Amino acid sequence: MSAIIDKIKELKTQRNAIILAHNYQRGEVQDIADFAGDSLGLSQQAAKTQADVIVFCGVHFMAETASILCPDKRVLLPDEHAGCPMANMITLKQLKIKKKEYPNAKVVCYVNSTAAIKAESDICCTSSNAMKIVSSIPKEHEILFVPDKSLGGYVSSKLNRPMILWEGYCPTHHRILAEHIIKIKAAHPEARIVVHPECTSDVIALADHVASTTGIAKYCKEADAREFIIGTETGILHRLRKENPQKVFYAITQLADCSNMKLISLEKVLWSLEDMVYQVKVPDDIAVKARLAIQKMLDLS
Ligand code: 13P
Ligand code: SF4
Repeated sequence: MSAIIDKIKELKTQRNAIILAHNYQRGEVQDIADFAGDSLGLSQQAAKTQADVIVFCGVHFMAETASILCPDKRVLLPDEHAGCPMANMITLKQLKIKKKEYPNAKVVCYVNSTAAIKAESDICCTSSNAMKIVSSIPKEHEILFVPDKSLGGYVSSKLNRPMILWEGYCPTHHRILAEHIIKIKAAHPEARIVVHPECTSDVIALADHVASTTGIAKYCKEADAREFIIGTETGILHRLRKENPQKVFYAITQLADCSNMKLISLEKVLWSLEDMVYQVKVPDDIAVKARLAIQKMLDLS
């Protein structure tokens, strides 16, 4: 493994590359990254990097977002099949039909969406800024929130603001069930329950804290508690345990494993830098429009 890591470091310097990794990546991939974080943090890093090449250890929509923000840089996704099932739960044609049904509505799209959907939206959001983004839209407008009904439902109930919700969801987070939490809480009554807003509403209702992946990491670091029950993709446990060796973390269920996130391995990162694959590039006409929605979000964040 250390030979692969050495080779990755060498190629990174040669190519003037930066490695960005999402908090759900395999532990060894997070460890070689220049930056590991949530979707907002990763897009902020992409927007400001001086590197020529961005190796994006995450899923396709994240690499697309980086490419939209940095059209002159080469963005590489080490496995071209690393997609997000939720992002594929809405098509451009479907969104256009829905917009005709609600002509007064502003479209807020979760960053877990394709570039074409972002291009057709008024503003983008991530799980860490969704509340702020939705609040920025004047009350006289209806809001069509796509594609995650769970995040949309959570924001809508927190802000007491009705929204039209698209019926998409994250299959990984929806495998976390309230009954799993009740069982694990009975075994660890002192533990804090911390979940991601992509979870179902009955899971969220049992939580002590709801946040993006970086928000979860921040909460666990700062909270005056020793044990935590974590309701999100299991890859985050690596970071939580590394940053808090004196604390104990329990995954609500091992079923919360995103097979797309786990497609990226150290070997694939190395091959990606060797062969400069797989390049993710968004056609200019789509990128220009999608950038407006993403930039509006970054300006508010
Ligand atoms: P965040 O890291 O932005 O919370 O996103 C979670 C997620 O599911 C990404 O696919
Ligand atoms: Fe998509 Fe869910 Fe996997 Fe994130 S965890 S990439 S939302 S399927």
